[in-house]
This record gives sequence, C-alpha cells and structure tokens, in this order.
Amino acid sequence: MNGIKSRIESLKREKNAVILAHYYVPGEVQEIADYIGDSFYLSKVAKEARQDTIIFCGVSFMGESAKILSPGKRVFMPDITAGCPMAGMAQAARIEEVRREYDDVAVVCYINSTGELKKHSDVCVTSANAVKIVQALPNKNIYFIPDENLGRYVASQVQDKHFIFNDGYCPVHAGVSSDDVKAAKEAHPGAPLLVHPECRMDILEEAAYIGSTSGIIDYAAKSSAKEFIIGTELGVLYKLEKENPGKKFYPLMPCLVCQDMKKITLEKVLKCMEEETGEIEVGEELRNSALASLDHMLELASL
Ligand code: 13P
Ligand code: SF4
Repeated sequence: MNGIKSRIESLKREKNAVILAHYYVPGEVQEIADYIGDSFYLSKVAKEARQDTIIFCGVSFMGESAKILSPGKRVFMPDITAGCPMAGMAQAARIEEVRREYDDVAVVCYINSTGELKKHSDVCVTSANAVKIVQALPNKNIYFIPDENLGRYVASQVQDKHFIFNDGYCPVHAGVSSDDVKAAKEAHPGAPLLVHPECRMDILEEAAYIGSTSGIIDYAAKSSAKEFIIGTELGVLYKLEKENPGKKFYPLMPCLVCQDMKKITLEKVLKCMEEETGEIEVGEELRNSALASLDHMLELASL
C-alpha cells in the first residue's frame, strides 16, 4: 500500500497535479488528498487551484463542476462511473413550464445535478450555502431542484418566499426513517444527533444540528458533548475520529453508505494518474451555459 502512496506522491509532482477528495470517499483516499471537504469548499478549491491537473476523488457532478469552473485545467476522476443518482432527478422541460407559470421565479439548483440541469438554472447552491443564497435572491418564487428534502429544509429557514418543489432525493439519506432515529437515540441516550439536510423533514426535526458534511464535522469538534449520532454518509467518520480522539461517533444507521463514493480506491487513483484515464470533457456550449449558475453561487456565497 505504501508503494502506491509514494507512487501517487511522485506523480503529483511530475504532473503538477492536485488531489481533491470529498469526505465520503474511503479514508485511505482522503489520506493522500491535498484538500478534503464538502462540495462547496471543493468547488472553490478547484477554481482557485494553481496546478494544471485536478484529480477529483468524488462523484461525477463534482468533477464536471470543477471542469466547468476551470476549463483551462485537466480534470480526472479515478472512476468515471461514480455518479450521484439524484443528479438527473429533474427535467429541463418542467423547469421551462415553471418559468412560464411564475414570471419572477428563480430556479435554484443543488450542485448535486447534471450540467444540463445547471444550464437551465439561475443559481447553484450546496448544503453549506443554500439558505444564505436563497435569502439573498430578490425573487419571491423559488423552484428548488432536484432535491425535495434540501428544498424543504431551506423553505423552513426562509419563510418569506414561496417554494415549488421537485421530487428528487438522495437514496442514501432519504432512506433514514423515524424508527432508525428512535433506535439510535435509545442505544445512545443523550448523544446529539447531527444530520445532513438531504434527510427527510421528520428526521431533521429530531436533530440537534443540521448541516453540510463540513458543518457536521465543525459542530462535533466545537461541541462539549463526548458522543454523537451521525446522520450522514459514513465516510465522514474518518475525519471525525481522526480529529476528535476523545469523542465517540455512532452511525445513525450502519447502511448510510454511498456506493458511488466508495468506488474511488487508491488503486484507481494511481491508475488514472499513470494512464491519464477518466478525463472529464465538457463541451463548450454546455460549459458556457452551466457556468453562469455556478459563478452566481460563488458570488452570492461570498457576500
Ligand atoms: P456536502 O456538500 O455537504 O459535502 O454534501 C454532498 C453530498 O453529496 C451529500 O450527500
Ligand atoms: Fe448523491 Fe446521496 Fe451519494 Fe451524496 S450521498 S453523492 S447525494 S447519492
């Protein structure tokens, strides 16, 4: 294994490459990454990176967003088949229909979406900035795609706007039930429940904290509690356990696992760097039209 790691390190220098990893990829991959973070943080790092090559350890909407934001860089994914099932759960035709129904509507697109959906949207958001961005929009009507659960969470925080929802969902987070919460709370009485807003509203209502993967990690680090129930994909345990040796973290459910994120292995990182496979290509027309919603996100998030 160490041989793989040292080969990856030398290829990084040789190819002037930077490795970005999402918190959900396996711990051994997070270990060799230059930057680890949530979707928002990684999109900013991808845009600002001074290296010519980005190795994106995550799922395809992440690699595609990095390429759209940084067309001059080569972006590779160790496994090009790692996708997010939610990314395509909305329809461009429905967006145009909603635009005809509401003339002041803002189409707000979760970054977990295809470039094609971003192209039809006004602004992108991530779980880390969605509330702030929707609040900053002048529009009264918000069509939130593709995730209904994140959309409903944002609506609960921004009460002076009217939301239209779409029925997309994350198969990992949306599978959590109130019985799972009850069982975890009974097994770990007093441990605060920290959840991702892709969970259903009845689950969010049971939580001590709701936020992005980085938000959950920050909350746990700053909290005086010693035990936590973690309601997001279990890849975050790598960072939580590494940085908080005196604290205990219990998965809300043992099957909170995103199979696509787990496709990213050290062997595939090495292969993609050696053979230059898995390069992300985004056509000029799609890039130009999807870029506006991503740039709009970066602009509103920085206010
Ligand atoms: P974060 O932006 O919070 O890292 O979430 C990404 C994701 O895919 C959640 O399922
Ligand atoms: Fe997509 Fe859910 Fe996996 Fe996140 S955890 S990448 S939303 S399938």
